[in-house]
Amino acid sequence: MCDVTRTLALLLAVVALAHAQAPSLAPLEPDEWWGPTSSRGHTDTSIRDFRVEFDDDMIQDLRNRLWFHRPLTPPLQGVGFRYGCNTTVLQPWVDYWANEYNFTQRAEYFNQFPHYKTNIQGLDIHFIHVKPKLSGSSGNIKVVPLLILHGRPGSIREFYDAIPALSSPYEDYPFVFELIVPSLPGFGFSDAPVRRGAAPPQLAVIFKNLMARLGHDKFYVQGGEWGSYIGSALATLYPDNVLGFHCNLLSMQNSCTETKSLATAMLASMQLSSAEAAKIANIANLIEETGNIHIHGTKPETLGAGLSDSPVGFLCYSLEKFAFGTNQQHRDEPDGGLSLRFSKEELLDNIMLYWSTNTVTTSMRLYREFFSNKNRALAIDDFPTPVPTWSVQAPNVFVATTKSKLKFPNLLGITELDNGGHFLAFELPKVFTDKVFLGIKAIMDFRNTKTEL
Ligand SMILES: *[C@@H]1O[C@H](CO)[C@@H](O)[C@H](O)[C@H]1NC(C)=O
Ligand SMILES: *[C@@H]1O[C@H](CO)[C@@H](O)[C@H](O)[C@H]1NC(C)=O
Repeated sequence: MCDVTRTLALLLAVVALAHAQAPSLAPLEPDEWWGPTSSRGHTDTSIRDFRVEFDDDMIQDLRNRLWFHRPLTPPLQGVGFRYGCNTTVLQPWVDYWANEYNFTQRAEYFNQFPHYKTNIQGLDIHFIHVKPKLSGSSGNIKVVPLLILHGRPGSIREFYDAIPALSSPYEDYPFVFELIVPSLPGFGFSDAPVRRGAAPPQLAVIFKNLMARLGHDKFYVQGGEWGSYIGSALATLYPDNVLGFHCNLLSMQNSCTETKSLATAMLASMQLSSAEAAKIANIANLIEETGNIHIHGTKPETLGAGLSDSPVGFLCYSLEKFAFGTNQQHRDEPDGGLSLRFSKEELLDNIMLYWSTNTVTTSMRLYREFFSNKNRALAIDDFPTPVPTWSVQAPNVFVATTKSKLKFPNLLGITELDNGGHFLAFELPKVFTDKVFLGIKAIMDFRNTKTEL
């Protein structure tokens, strides 16, 4: 373990030195083309209705794969989810997916909100668009546009229980949201870029263009997980367009944070004191639980080939992430504690968005682009954003909120929760809704006192 930690520390040091200083934020091409070159200039840029449909061939193929999978390897005794998904509990999930999950009814469920697609920079981008229905008695309630961005292995499905509340008058708030909830490029119904380089800042350009296409020059952003990295890039690149940035994972990645990680790793590896011993546990935990990030960040195609071919494998892989991402303690439950937060249907809906669209591999490429030299050289987190920001910190999110006033000089506040994890909107939709209204209200109040913003 020590050797591993030292190697990691050394790598971090090299990385930190390699981009210690970036002179200025290189402008990003506003219309960089991510589709096939031949489609350039020939795409329909209208906004088209879209419906979720699970077609019979896909369903039959999926069922065959689920019915005829090879025998699962029995789990070791007493390890819970520590070695990954417990295959004894996996089988009932496989059976449920193949025999009880009602594909027709689930597609209807997905279609309760209006879906659209429109081509941005060569990619068909899919999104839900919900406008509030205000009655005559709703008086002076202001409608404000909110772009909601998901992460991985989440999806637009995470927000289904929150969408009705966010788009209806809520408590005494004098505003309500018009919601734009896209699938990230390469996730679910959104096309994947055909060439390398689409890291969070490039995705931010796509979403800025999407909002412009919908007529929203100024808008709020809510991001979770990858969505928060993209939201942070939006706020950094377009401070005149992003009215406020609200997120439930405020993180940053630059030479400074990497140096900190390095210091932590060094201290841990030297086993200095009991305080440092706690950090050793953190580093060990980090290594134990983030192997996926390393492999997505390096060889997504290799892992993707297997997981795209085996729904059982992909299910196992996803359930493990939902178990740990919800609550680290759930690793020690025989069933990963999944039923404590989610129904089978809810998680299978989410998994279906990846499976039915064959986007397992393309979704993993985002990590590869994030860790690329090109993205590191851009060093977007070395540049501050004046956009007023509010973060929610759930206790079971693996990442601690950055409090960097250099990056976020207008970080107005952090809501500390006593419950919840990585998939806040999915796990606790009411809490998520409450906190989004609260944070955006604080941002609006701040803007009202700072007319120059
Ligand atoms: C796997 O799950 C089964 C069923 O809940 C349980 O009996 C078994 O102990 C679990 N195995 C581990 C290794 O936790
Ligand atoms: C599946 O759902 C559809 C639509 O809601 C319904 O008509 C059908 O009876 C359901 N099938 C089963 C097997 O329950």
